[in-house]
Amino acid sequence: MGKPFLLPILTDGHPTLRKAAKKVDEAELRQPAFQQLIDDMFHTMYEAPGIGLAAPQVDVSRRLIVVDLQDDESRPYVFINPKIVESEGEVRSVEGCLSVPGMVGDVVRFAKVTVSGLDRNGKRQRVTATGLLGRCLQHEVDHLDGVLYIDKATNLRAAESEAEQAAANEGGVAYDPHVDGAHSVAS
Ligand code: NI
Repeated sequence: MGKPFLLPILTDGHPTLRKAAKKVDEAELRQPAFQQLIDDMFHTMYEAPGIGLAAPQVDVSRRLIVVDLQDDESRPYVFINPKIVESEGEVRSVEGCLSVPGMVGDVVRFAKVTVSGLDRNGKRQRVTATGLLGRCLQHEVDHLDGVLYIDKATNLRAAESEAEQAAANEGGVAYDPHVDGAHSVAS
């Protein structure tokens, strides 16, 4: 495996962000170029910095996301052909996106989701998540359908406070005015 490359992140207005991405088949998944893309996406996400990135954001219209909250409890996730197979409850929180720099908005998401898909080795995995991880997974899966959080957000605004600027990064949650126990800031 080569050294990871920094990929340009597309911003709102680019047509690839609005297309439904294609499913990845087993043969493509096993190609060195695809495995390199996964490494490049992690590298690009960490450098941004962000906590999640979907392939369409780097102009690759494939159903692939990477997520890493970079906190003590979480780990990096690769999901290929992810699907939300279970969902529960609703929670409103502040959200941003690397493809919509400098902005945040309030978005209602499922409070708890189970996501099913393949890992980078093609093995089936299921992850049940709440909080920031659950929100980030929903945000990234939306990208694969050409949906940006700004389509769902209310009170879309320029990020001002430090917490909001942190949330302006991918899937970041600055605070949660409607639920006890605010999520941690991620950037
Ligand atoms: Ni995004």
